[in-house]
Amino acid sequence: MKHFITAEGITRGELERLYSVADDIKRNKAKYRTALSGYIIATLFYEPSTRTRLSFESSIQRLGANVISTENARENASAKKGESLEDTVRIVQGYSDMIIIRHFEVDSAERAVKVAKVPIINAGSGGGEHPTQGLLDIYTIREYRGKVDGTSIAVMGDLKYGRTVHSMLKLISLYDGVTVYGFPVKGLELPEFYKDFLAAKKVKYIECKTFTDIPKDVNFIYQTRVQTERLEDPDIKIEEMILNKANFARFSDNTYLLHPLPRVDEISPDLDDDKRCVYFNQAHNGIPTRMALIYTLFRDFYNIDLK
Ligand code: CP
Repeated sequence: MKHFITAEGITRGELERLYSVADDIKRNKAKYRTALSGYIIATLFYEPSTRTRLSFESSIQRLGANVISTENARENASAKKGESLEDTVRIVQGYSDMIIIRHFEVDSAERAVKVAKVPIINAGSGGGEHPTQGLLDIYTIREYRGKVDGTSIAVMGDLKYGRTVHSMLKLISLYDGVTVYGFPVKGLELPEFYKDFLAAKKVKYIECKTFTDIPKDVNFIYQTRVQTERLEDPDIKIEEMILNKANFARFSDNTYLLHPLPRVDEISPDLDDDKRCVYFNQAHNGIPTRMALIYTLFRDFYNIDLK
């Protein structure tokens, strides 16, 4: 792997090798402390972020590299003066050895790669993809279930613009015997492209009409926030989507609740103490998985023998 701009195209073998590195990082943090010493990695964030930017920057530093960063690049970088993304990449690659980009346009990562001479990581591209979130989501599923084959998962909320769902579904389709239940907010259904993609990969996709259509023994529920920033009319009603102590009680002891976060109202804080609610640990899995990704891309792109 030389870049990571989409969850499509990675093989199951590559994903498993990445997870082996992530497992090793979890076990042996000290071993990786100077792995990328002397390198510089740039983070260009044109959209707000807490988890992705800070976990990337933490991962970079935990690997011994240095970080240069533009938070709010849409306002504070030369995009504000009209500079194209391509020109910004052409410039920043002269200052760094890898560029991590979050951008508001769906095709931003592809455009960046076309002019890039350093590895590019897509940290979220408009309503399209968020492949590194997908990495940590599947890693979390693997952690709680012990395996990904045979997983059943219900995806809820904004399935249209929820880029984390798109990338997670692409990655889970690498596994066998997966069933996905969709319970979208009305008007924010999963795009046909993803339904066709799942069908082509032999993943069963079942759209639920009501909350109670989601089986009680489903392995995971993947709740999402409505991406109001991408809607013309952000005043969408989500009452029937809100998960709380009362309605989550219908699920089994082995049904885990995931959410890419940030949450707004779609998960009530009264659920946070439930041991099945693993979204904070899910976010923390951003560290080993992003460290493993950076490490692997450096090794493959620069053909170097890392410690
Ligand atoms: N999950 C996620 O992408 O969170 P941030 O927007 O805080 O990075």
